[in-house]
Amino acid sequence: MDVKIYEYDAVIVGAGLAGLAAAKELTEAGKKTAVITKLHPLRSHSGAAQGGINAALGKEDSVELHMFDTVKGSDYLADQDAVELMCTKAPETIRWAEHMGAVFSRDEEGNIAIRPFGGQSKPRACYAKDRTGLAVLQAIYEQAFRAGIEVFDEWYCADLLYEDGKAYGVSAYNIRNSEPAIFNAKLVMFATGGHARAYRFNSNAHANTGDSLSIVARHGLPLEDMEFVQFHPSGLGGSGVLISEAARGEGGRLFNSKGERFMEKYAPNALELASRDVVSRAIMEEVRQGRGVGKDGQSVNLDLTHLPKEIILERLPELRELAIAFQGQDMLKEPIHISATAHYSMGGIPTNINCQVQKNAKGDLVEGFYAAGECSCVSVHGANRLGANSVLEALLFGRHAGENMVKALDEGVELKKATKADADRMLEELTRIKTSNGTETVPGLREELQNGMTANAGVFRSKESLEKQLKLIDELLERFKHIRIDDKSNTFNTDLQEALELGHMLEFSKFIVVGALEREESRGGHYREDFPERDDEKFLKHTYAYMDENFNITTEWGEVTLGMFEPKERSY
Ligand code: FUM
Repeated sequence: MDVKIYEYDAVIVGAGLAGLAAAKELTEAGKKTAVITKLHPLRSHSGAAQGGINAALGKEDSVELHMFDTVKGSDYLADQDAVELMCTKAPETIRWAEHMGAVFSRDEEGNIAIRPFGGQSKPRACYAKDRTGLAVLQAIYEQAFRAGIEVFDEWYCADLLYEDGKAYGVSAYNIRNSEPAIFNAKLVMFATGGHARAYRFNSNAHANTGDSLSIVARHGLPLEDMEFVQFHPSGLGGSGVLISEAARGEGGRLFNSKGERFMEKYAPNALELASRDVVSRAIMEEVRQGRGVGKDGQSVNLDLTHLPKEIILERLPELRELAIAFQGQDMLKEPIHISATAHYSMGGIPTNINCQVQKNAKGDLVEGFYAAGECSCVSVHGANRLGANSVLEALLFGRHAGENMVKALDEGVELKKATKADADRMLEELTRIKTSNGTETVPGLREELQNGMTANAGVFRSKESLEKQLKLIDELLERFKHIRIDDKSNTFNTDLQEALELGHMLEFSKFIVVGALEREESRGGHYREDFPERDDEKFLKHTYAYMDENFNITTEWGEVTLGMFEPKERSY
């Protein structure tokens, strides 16, 4: 097949909130911008965000309190300059989204309504019922579309074009017919979202396979803080489907099989609204102690039956529907079964505060390369993200990346064109995978990976469990060389796509496990049973990890940007 060649000022991979916000800025500034996405933009996982988006809008709230809660929630690993930028610009970002057309729920006085969320000292999560992400995504998509963005939807990004410290485009193919193309670009941005599909129980869309992470890593560039995976306390038991923290924000309570409100023991002040890492560990500890509920005893009860019916119907309608559809449990009448679910990655592609990708822990930059949203690590979440800070981060830093890319283009960036070798590399890789005729199946290997990650690199980890997982991943990487692809066609070849995605999942999962092994402490979402304390002396540091062509991973440590909040012990 011929390889089509396109030329753009900017190419953005990913069309969730971060990608669309950047694309809108660039297009409005007259920059020729392409957005490449394996889904339709409105099916991006940003649309699944339920509970809210944080901004200090309440009368009793302040930017400083939002900053403090975020840094404390991060277990002091967040970079405080980035946190300051995010929290300071949050109120303006909400108003911007509102002016774009996002319809937020209102309080009795007609102000944007705010609800309490975990780890926050004041109600701060602005919301649109329990469909906040969707409301904001639709508005930003409409406005970006109006500005004239060019979207290549159902296109799969195969590789970053990168040489000698410079990014100069991407190679991609059209999922509909396998047509390959090169997108030469002065600037490239990755905004591909999260990767919790590496876990058996997760709240993520099927598309969240972290493709961009291993694409970056295959070029010898680092990934940052990958060991910090967030386990959301309330996934539906057995499936992991998200039941928003809004359920607890509105007053939901957690009970074990003995009817004990167990959070009284783990977080006597904040109770169910402690930070996510604390609540998830408490739930899993109750389950481990045999006080779980449900058929397999792997869940706990989330009880909302004491709330007025109108609150649930008005503010949590989607959650109610989900629990009925997946579990046959109506939260108006009975508690629902929930358990911790892999939800979010605090780590990712390292960037500076302007969303420019870093090529090492010193902070040297890759020329022409930006990243924002969940695939990136700026790092505003450190070791544990607060609920409702992710929609904020994606929107705010996506827009910020777009503005910075416009500035860079105005200052002048030369277009470096792809070579034949760049196109050949993609074609060879696609052909190699498609013609695989081995004995291993992609779903089989993926299931082994996911089960292992949940069991060995989940809420609780230890040297023993992590080494077991490392060994498993190395075996799976080897077996991945012997997969079989049955579909040899060019039309919507999902076998091919799933194989590519599995390759990515295996590689970035290895980063999670190696990071978790090397970090011999417990901090935020990373809990080592053999090192249960936080160790600031040794590990108040970011992890930068690099992969070689044999999938060996080496790490170095990077400085955390501290600020007005001194690290201290965290309690809720
Ligand atoms: O619980 C939730 O609604 C999820 C929000 C978030 O991850 O920020």
